[in-house]
Amino acid sequence: MSLLEANPEFEALLDYLKHNRGCDLTGYKRSTLMRRFGHRMQNLNIDSYQHYLQYLHRHAQEYLALLDDVLINFTSFFRDRDAWDYLASDIIPQIIASKQPDEPIRVWSAGCAAGQEIYSLLILLAETLGIESCLQRVQCYATDADEAALKQARQATYSALEVSSIPRDWLEKYFEQTDQDYVVRPMLRQKIIFGLHDLTQDAPISKIDLLVCRNVLIYFNPEAQASILVRFHFALKKTGFLFLGKSETLVNRKQIFTPVHMKHQIYAKGLKLELEDHLAINPTSRKAPSAKPPTSQTQFWQTAFETNGVAQFAVDLSGCLVGANEQANILFALTLDDWNYPFHELEPGKLIAAHTSVKTLYCHRRPVKLKDIERNTAQGTQYFEVAIAPVLNAKKQLLGSIVTFVDKTECKRLTEQLEYANAQLKRVSEALQATQTKLESAQQEIQILAEDTYRREQRSRGAEE
Ligand SMILES: C[S@@+](CC[C@H](N)C(=O)[O-])C[C@H]1O[C@@H](n2cnc3c(N)ncnc32)[C@H](O)[C@@H]1O
Repeated sequence: MSLLEANPEFEALLDYLKHNRGCDLTGYKRSTLMRRFGHRMQNLNIDSYQHYLQYLHRHAQEYLALLDDVLINFTSFFRDRDAWDYLASDIIPQIIASKQPDEPIRVWSAGCAAGQEIYSLLILLAETLGIESCLQRVQCYATDADEAALKQARQATYSALEVSSIPRDWLEKYFEQTDQDYVVRPMLRQKIIFGLHDLTQDAPISKIDLLVCRNVLIYFNPEAQASILVRFHFALKKTGFLFLGKSETLVNRKQIFTPVHMKHQIYAKGLKLELEDHLAINPTSRKAPSAKPPTSQTQFWQTAFETNGVAQFAVDLSGCLVGANEQANILFALTLDDWNYPFHELEPGKLIAAHTSVKTLYCHRRPVKLKDIERNTAQGTQYFEVAIAPVLNAKKQLLGSIVTFVDKTECKRLTEQLEYANAQLKRVSEALQATQTKLESAQQEIQILAEDTYRREQRSRGAEE
């Protein structure tokens, strides 16, 4: 059997790496993976996946060498120069123009390899903003799944051949020359936060203006690519841009990104995410991907959940957040980091935890309603009515619960106004009543006086007669 054909032995190998070495390669395209594994096996003189699996069992560190082969680090400065020129002439000015003069600009190179990509970007930003402003305003992140590549990126030391694609004046301005190499000047180097980050597993960096992820998605199968793109959607600001590699095709079923320049693979943030997209990045749903497209009925309910104007959260039996609709995300500024997090440790969970036990929250088979749940914000106090509704499957087994937050602040304000007006009314009516009573007693006095006067007059008239 050819090494390039998919086979169960190979899948068993991937399974072993995932569950015993914490190295999940299942999202990568099989053709590329098999070539890289084949390369490693050839070096070790191993002729079958089964034997390689035995080798992995016996040599605990082998997976690191394998990973080094799998994570292809090829890169260069200003790779595909015309795309970078377009970025410099059209995109970077747009980003700057959309901001206040001293507002931060956040950029992220995801899959940065040995750093050439992020330094290229930083040079363009420094050229446009001026070095001083660039150092003040730009917040730079560069991540990769390969620790060795990150180490090189942090060192920022490149050979003459590696820097040959950098214009001479920029090389002099942004690099220091040593005996043999060129090193990025510390002021630029120190601007960048480098970090180990797996695009298929880790939460994305947030509020990004420009996300550069070139020549990385090509290694992943369509399902993994789609889930990475959802993460990128989360990462970008509304006005943010995504810059992909020249030969990459965007698996963009629902236009969550819209093309700005197809040839240079530059995209703007597109349509809002839907529940389905959220589920694509949920690790539990990843374990058992559904082969079937959602039925129209499922789609209807998903859309209803997602677009409901009332904030809703789905919490599983272990008490972890497994879903939140858009309204909930906006209300409590939830990010992807919050998914699969214990709900009672998130803000909405904390608000209700003071009123009911965690067990009641997620494991109760009867609905619970909580009134006047207070939330203090900088803008004032908000009041919510919270409903916790159990979710049962067809066999009446409890799956978790849906927690709904209905904002009653306006209603509470009106009720308070009404109560105040009623109290005022009561006071006025009491005063009126008192006046009435006084009036009555005055009238009685007058009456008595009148009667007295009448009697006195009668008496004096009788005496006269
Ligand atoms: C071909 S290089 C591209 C480097 C650079 N972006 C460019 O276009 O010049 C691919 C990079 O993606 C990284 N990579 C592969 N899988 C990854 C993952 N799951 N998470 C983060 N980075 C990954 C590799 O380690 C490698 O450095």
